[in-house]
Amino acid sequence: MFWYHNMTKHSYNSVRTNPNRLSWEDQPSTYKNYPNSYKKKKLNLENEEEDFLYHIAGLTEKKTYPSGEYYLRINPSAGALYPNELYFQARGVAGIDDGIYHYEVSSSSITLLHGITEDLGLEPYLGYKTAMKGYLFLVSAIYYRSAWKYKERAFRYCLLDAGHLLGSVEMAGLLKPHAVQIVYGMEREKLNRMFGFEEREWFLSGLCMAVPIQGQSVEGIEFELPYVDGSGTFEAFPLIEEAYESSTLLQNCHKSLKAPKFTYKKENLRETIFQRRSQRGFAEGAMTKGQFNYLMDVIQQPVLSDCDEEVNLYVVLNRVIDMPLGLQKNGRYVKYGDFAKKAGYLSLEQYSLSTSGALAFFLTSKGENYQALYQKAGIIGHRLYIASGYLGLGCSGIGAYYDDEVNDFVENDEMVLYALAVGK
Ligand SMILES: Cc1cc2nc3c(=O)[nH]c(=O)nc-3n(C[C@H](O)[C@H](O)[C@H](O)COP(=O)(O)O)c2cc1C
Repeated sequence: MFWYHNMTKHSYNSVRTNPNRLSWEDQPSTYKNYPNSYKKKKLNLENEEEDFLYHIAGLTEKKTYPSGEYYLRINPSAGALYPNELYFQARGVAGIDDGIYHYEVSSSSITLLHGITEDLGLEPYLGYKTAMKGYLFLVSAIYYRSAWKYKERAFRYCLLDAGHLLGSVEMAGLLKPHAVQIVYGMEREKLNRMFGFEEREWFLSGLCMAVPIQGQSVEGIEFELPYVDGSGTFEAFPLIEEAYESSTLLQNCHKSLKAPKFTYKKENLRETIFQRRSQRGFAEGAMTKGQFNYLMDVIQQPVLSDCDEEVNLYVVLNRVIDMPLGLQKNGRYVKYGDFAKKAGYLSLEQYSLSTSGALAFFLTSKGENYQALYQKAGIIGHRLYIASGYLGLGCSGIGAYYDDEVNDFVENDEMVLYALAVGK
């Protein structure tokens, strides 16, 4: 088990002896905006490519509280803290000048950070020797945004949220339609330096939605962007920095070559993506066996990546019509019985989610590549959100659970990565 994971477990006692007090005056910003001296382009939803970009991470709902206004996005995030930033290279994309961009969420714009040429680009840093026509995305984390609230455990949330953002690109890609390939084997240190992140932000993954341009070889472009603050406040968490450093080097990676298959109807999917929200509690409604099978099929589809790790899917069936109550592992029952209360307790007593929901999921892994396996859990979680919404069901991610007690329940000693609940 990765040492960081072991050190950041929740238990019944730890959450009581270590209550999380938030210092509101230190609340970090959730937006990174480059200065206006950079060329920015507001996303125009009439343009197909810009509409696609909007469906990855655009703002979709405004919440007003006494403390101010907050916006929710296409992609979910633990505590709505949105620790991730999205960058991309566009080459040969209709209506978007070739270049390297930052996705500016606050204004629904893209900011041109640097130009590229026919023979210079980001491709080699992601392992490609030829120029790639389409998009190369890069996902980073500004970890303090999440650590402000979740302290040392925040690296887990940064990775899950990054997985959701990758999943968001995957789902928006289906609108075009375009397949995606996740890239973990990228030159992170070099890229972190070139983008001027100064240890406060780091790249976690890449995503290729592009095809090679035969015969057009390309070399790595060199630039040095200035540091741009993306959190306002900052406090260093040495444990998180060490966890990032020591999980950056990949080992014994297996490449997955099988592409996932989804059967969504484009217009319904577009609406589902746009309307996705986390359900705050379930009314104990049941789902049908057909809906259950559909969800299981979607989340068991392969994830195309250069470092695929096995993630085990455990699901507690609380309310599926014509199916026995019990616990399944990867689609097969491992025990029968009513575990609804147990699932709610394990999810840090969030009974309105994992007990009242029709299903309660726990994802585990014993893989070696922590960043890759954790982001995969986020991608699977995102597929579950979208598939649930598509069927008219609600879904919520759950990052807080009693780690060791989940292990006892599912009877394994793997790292518990994520819990989710689905229901009505
Ligand atoms: C990794 C992750 C963990 C989450 N954990 C919880 C949780 O433990 N309890 C909860 O009620 N919501 C949880 N959520 C839901 C978030 O609070 C929600 O995504 C965020 O407030 C934004 O709202 P939206 O999903 O409706 O856009 C989680 C979401 C994610 C992505």
